[in-house]
Amino acid sequence: MPMYSEKVMDHFMHPRNVGTIENADGVGEVGNPVCGDMMTFYIKVNDGRLDDVKFQTFGCGAAIAVSSMVSEMAMGKTLDEATAITNRAVAEELEGLPTNKLHCSNLGADALHKAIENYRAKHAAQTAGGARND
Ligand code: FES
Repeated sequence: MPMYSEKVMDHFMHPRNVGTIENADGVGEVGNPVCGDMMTFYIKVNDGRLDDVKFQTFGCGAAIAVSSMVSEMAMGKTLDEATAITNRAVAEELEGLPTNKLHCSNLGADALHKAIENYRAKHAAQTAGGARND
């Protein structure tokens, strides 16, 4: 049985921000090629900041703890700050993961970044549409 830090156990037992966001501004979904687990992030953006972050993770305990930590780290951040969150930073914030569980941390920041990309793509389309009305 691998040793998990107290922080990992806490986020696994009491994950923060689980769920979906209706009419999310951005959605990002990734799958882990190693185990097939899935993670989806939903974001609400207000004034260039992440106003709300929610996730659904169909995966192992470490993946759930990682998602929970990513959602906490990203909440309230600007899009650029949230984009700068790395999978390694998340694992460090969780006070490490057992080596054979490190692959589980690979999805967290990726799913968040995908949701931000999704938002930016939509937003770029809207801005282009708006420009035509000027
Ligand atoms: Fe699949 Fe951990 S075993 S993400």
